[in-house]
Amino acid sequence: MPDTESSRPIRSLKGRVAIVSGAGSQGSGIGNGRAAALLLAEAGCDVACVDMNAADAERTAEMINAEGHGQAIALSANVTSEQDCKRAVSEAVKRFGRLDILVNNVGIMGTPGTALEVDMAQWEDGMRMNISSMVIMAKSAIPEMRKNNGPETAFWRGSIVNVSSVAGLLGGAPSLLYPTSKGAVLNLTRAMASHHAKDKIRVNCICPGAVYTPMVNHQGGGMDEEMRKSRAEMSPLKTEGTGWDCGAAVRFLASDEAR
Ligand SMILES: NC(=O)c1ccc[n+]([C@@H]2O[C@H](COP(=O)([O-])OP(=O)(O)OC[C@H]3O[C@@H](n4cnc5c(N)ncnc54)[C@H](O)[C@@H]3O)[C@@H](O)[C@H]2O)c1
Repeated sequence: MPDTESSRPIRSLKGRVAIVSGAGSQGSGIGNGRAAALLLAEAGCDVACVDMNAADAERTAEMINAEGHGQAIALSANVTSEQDCKRAVSEAVKRFGRLDILVNNVGIMGTPGTALEVDMAQWEDGMRMNISSMVIMAKSAIPEMRKNNGPETAFWRGSIVNVSSVAGLLGGAPSLLYPTSKGAVLNLTRAMASHHAKDKIRVNCICPGAVYTPMVNHQGGGMDEEMRKSRAEMSPLKTEGTGWDCGAAVRFLASDEAR
């Protein structure tokens, strides 16, 4: 166990390496994954930006490299594919030499409908996207995290942050798939946290409320001002959340400060 002096937490993530899934953010906006990738890199972390949309992942990597803190690469991968996830992890490790942080950010609203209406084939696809993808990424990422063995691993060898939603805590969404899958992310996180603690791998999740990201904008067909205002009204502070709010929470949970 380190002594009191050396147990002082540091904010810097220099020397650490992260994979952020869904880091592409649909165009030029700031989604939760892009914000997390940028903020991790701002703390000095090197980041592999994974997205199924190669151009969007590339854009995030360019933004990071232009800022000149941590370095970034873009990797095109579909997180529902075991082969793609394996390749993404191995390319990240090949480029940066290690892996410390995994941010499982990909998630979709998925198929609409109540239990009476929902299409079961689309239900399975949505569950694979919102839950199974997190396990698939972890399968490849955890063995790499377990190899970390330097003095920087005194408190943590790896850190996984899953992105759930307030819908996963409270239900209350018009569809069945989204709150069900996001609720499952909570217990997935609890179970994984207990399984991997012995390897000094921490597993946490964030449950964002209504944040204005490209996903919300696109699905709303371009959300109008009135709709944005009514979402903001749901918050006690009467403010609309942004991708940055989620990114900051991810960075905190990923780091020494949340050890
Ligand atoms: N926006 C909100 O209000 C809100 C609220 C709570 C939780 N969340 C959660 O935050 C996470 C990110 O949401 P966002 O609003 O930033 O979305 P976003 O659409 O802005 O970004 C998601 C990214 O994931 C990528 N992606 C989608 N499917 C993929 C796949 N199979 N493989 C690889 N990449 C894939 C997309 O190309 C996109 O770049 C999701 O898990 C979402 O459920 C969002």
